[in-house]
Amino acid sequence: MSAYEQPMHSEAGLFTRAGCALGAAEATAKAEQAALLLHDVRAGRWQRDARATRIDVRFPGRPPGLKLVPPRRVPKRGVGSLAGRLALMHAVAHIEFNAINLALDAVHRFRDMPDAYYADWLQVAVEEARHFALVRAYLQGHGSDYGDHPAHDGLWQMAVDTADDVLERMALVPRVLEARGLDVTPNLILRLRQAKDTEAADILTVIYEEELGHVAAGTQWFRHLCAERGLEPVFTFFSLLSRHFPDGMHGPYNLPARRQAGFSEREIAILTEGL
Ligand SMILES: [Fe+2]
Ligand SMILES: [Fe+2]
Repeated sequence: MSAYEQPMHSEAGLFTRAGCALGAAEATAKAEQAALLLHDVRAGRWQRDARATRIDVRFPGRPPGLKLVPPRRVPKRGVGSLAGRLALMHAVAHIEFNAINLALDAVHRFRDMPDAYYADWLQVAVEEARHFALVRAYLQGHGSDYGDHPAHDGLWQMAVDTADDVLERMALVPRVLEARGLDVTPNLILRLRQAKDTEAADILTVIYEEELGHVAAGTQWFRHLCAERGLEPVFTFFSLLSRHFPDGMHGPYNLPARRQAGFSEREIAILTEGL
């Protein structure tokens, strides 16, 4: 048993406790620990233990039975059949599971941030855990479960690629990956409603609304870090984009949602028209 698999009492420091939640294999354990930690941080009952051992970013806690495969081997099916919707919701469950880990990793790994940063990302972790639970309940309600389908093994790669720099993490995870979710989810909700799957559509609506806040938090902390380092945020963001996505980004973009999540008019113009 590693240090991070043992139950952690609340006198442990923030980074140890976040690491414990990150290392937990089950989403329910992550959810409980994140909620407790958020509660303690909001109540001021926490301290920084900046020397706590960091979890190897390549190995966050995951259910042991989960089968990870390259993206092209994740079957894609239309939402017209229940089998297709179960495959889709399984993919969403996997995204949400990774999102819990991403939020916990943002707390555990980066140790020189203002207090409010930790409260923000713990709140995100709690919301991602709720998203996962909603999607999992849907799967279970239809005789399936998380782990029944193979899952995309590439989702965690951006966490690995940005593990050395919180500015890169804030730019590329919330403002690129989660922002992509804002672009594609409304259409998915529409297709689920057309297929008369109100339950799945309602779940994705809850997720969508809370994801706006996650992207906004990413924007806020990205700009905070740019200001602290004397960097121009628009130039910095697009430099990072072209380094990590050499083939470029493509729309269509959900511009109202991106504006709501803090994208500036200049950023919107560059996204849609190029530099
Ligand atoms: Fe989510
Ligand atoms: Fe999120």
